[in-house]
Formats: sequence, C-alpha cells, structure tokens
Amino acid sequence: MLDPLSLNNKIWLIGFMGCGKSTLGACLAKVLGYRFLDTDLQIATQENLSIERIFKEKGEAYFRQLERALVANLEQVPSPLVIATGGGLPLYTPLKGTIIYLALDFESLYTRLFNDPNPRPLFKDKEGLHALYTQRSPLYAKMATLKLDANATPQDLTLQLVTLLRTKSPSN
Ligand code: S3P
Repeated sequence: MLDPLSLNNKIWLIGFMGCGKSTLGACLAKVLGYRFLDTDLQIATQENLSIERIFKEKGEAYFRQLERALVANLEQVPSPLVIATGGGLPLYTPLKGTIIYLALDFESLYTRLFNDPNPRPLFKDKEGLHALYTQRSPLYAKMATLKLDANATPQDLTLQLVTLLRTKSPSN
C-alpha cells in the first residue's frame, strides 16, 4: 500500500449515500492540512446542474462518465487530497490511493436519507435502497484500505483516522 500520508497520496472516502463522507472529509482535510474535494459538488458545479437533474436530464451513464473523468483528473493532481466520493463512484471507477470505507447500518442510513432534504436519485423506496445496500456493502469492504464505523461524531472519526493513518505510515 502507498504511504497514506505521503506527499501526493489521495485519501478517498467511500460508502453508502448518507454515511457522512462529506462532513468527515472536510474535517479530516482540515486536520491534515490537505485540500478537500467532494465529487458530487464538483460535478454539480462543473455542469451547473444538481445531481438530481443530471440523472433526470442526462442519465446515470452520463453521470458515471463525469465521475470517471473527474477521478482521472484528480489522480494527476501533484499534492495530497482528501476526496469524498458519491456513493456509487468506487463501484464504477477504480481508485488508487488510501481508501476509507465509512460503514453504517442500514436503518441509520435509511433514517438519515429519509430526513435529508438533498434528494438522491437512486433512493426511491426502502426495499430498493436495501437491495442496493446489500449489493454494495461487501464491495466497499473489499476495496477498502481501512473500514470505520460511521456511528460517531466527525471529530471522533477524524481522530481515529489520523491515528490509524499515522500508524500505517512507514515514517513512523
Ligand atoms: C449515488 C450517491 C450520491 C450521488 C448520486 C449517486 C450512488 O452521492 O453521487 O446520487 O450511486 O450511491 P452521496 O453518496 O453523497 O449521497
């Protein structure tokens, strides 16, 4: 594995929609002094359309192409980054670097998404969401460098992660 805290490493936060990747990412980047990027936000800004409208007007395949192109660009950035990915991104685009899986139980995710004003095009009903969760969870776990239980505050998770990343860094 690449040194997680090396000069140009990318730290990718992955996990199901609603698990808190963006909040943790911003907090972690601040503590590490790295730049932070949220792939959904970047794509929505670049297209000048919400993710919901990109799905509706241009389709999921188009959105996945944008994600792939964005990852290819980010891989060329010659500095460390913390990147919060959209929930489906790592399943369509392979990632290189340190991959942190933020895992949460289905009921907590469902409650968060149900109450979230930010609409998720792939969240139509509870059964469909559960099927997606069952299909994706083992894939996230398989590709992850580290798996964290997302059931903690962003501050606690950041502390846990910084400690884990430093332990895995060969310079320590
Ligand atoms: C998606 C998750 C969303 C967003 C899009 C598709 C997915 O991001 O990229 O709606 O396939 O799980 P969040 O994980 O930030 O909700």
